[in-house]
Amino acid sequence: MPELLVPDVRFHQSFLASHREWDGATQDGAGIHGDDDVLSADGFATYVAELVASERTPRRPGLVTDTYRWIVEGDEYLGAISFRHELTEYLENFGGHIGYGIRPSARRRGLATWALARTLDMARERGYDRVLVTCRDDNVASARTVEKNGGVLEDRRAHGETLMRRYWIPLA
Ligand SMILES: CC(C)(COP(=O)(O)OP(=O)(O)OC[C@H]1O[C@@H](n2cnc3c(N)ncnc32)[C@H](O)[C@@H]1OP(=O)(O)O)[C@@H](O)C(=O)NCCC(=O)NCCS
Repeated sequence: MPELLVPDVRFHQSFLASHREWDGATQDGAGIHGDDDVLSADGFATYVAELVASERTPRRPGLVTDTYRWIVEGDEYLGAISFRHELTEYLENFGGHIGYGIRPSARRRGLATWALARTLDMARERGYDRVLVTCRDDNVASARTVEKNGGVLEDRRAHGETLMRRYWIPLA
């Protein structure tokens, strides 16, 4: 059974195996910035501490506070999901409240659909009556994940060359 857990250094080895699978692609939901060192033990501890602290302190100037959860099964790190507490102009147009990513070897098992549902429960408990989730127009898997969780397409907006779908998910 998968679980959503607060990020923890005990998953470092499994995180590294996942990191290799991603092979340099952007790990949506993991909150990795260009200057993060997730490879060394010390760097990983700093990254994890910042993810946990971002519940109250934004990780970088211009970012909002954010709840990070890891999708794990036993000792295995499977993916990450983040819930951004408010929308900046950028998030309102392109980024949305919630981001997620599943390591390649764990995809198509229903994990993203499950993790988004649990995160919507969290948002509901915190008093949100709707959240915005976006994805690239050609990201069939993510669009399906949002639609299975009740997402209603509001529009598509161009972010440079990229067309983003914007879905609102009602929580009431
Ligand atoms: C998008 C992503 C999170 C989906 O994760 P997942 O755990 O594989 O998704 P699920 O297993 O919950 O599947 C959700 C739906 O998408 C469909 N789906 C998943 N992968 C698919 C694919 N490659 N092509 C077509 N449909 C796909 C599933 O069949 C399911 O729909 P169904 O129940 O109608 O069959 C994952 O592919 C991923 O991490 N991609 C890279 C990062 C990313 O795009 N993140 C989202 C940014 S908005």
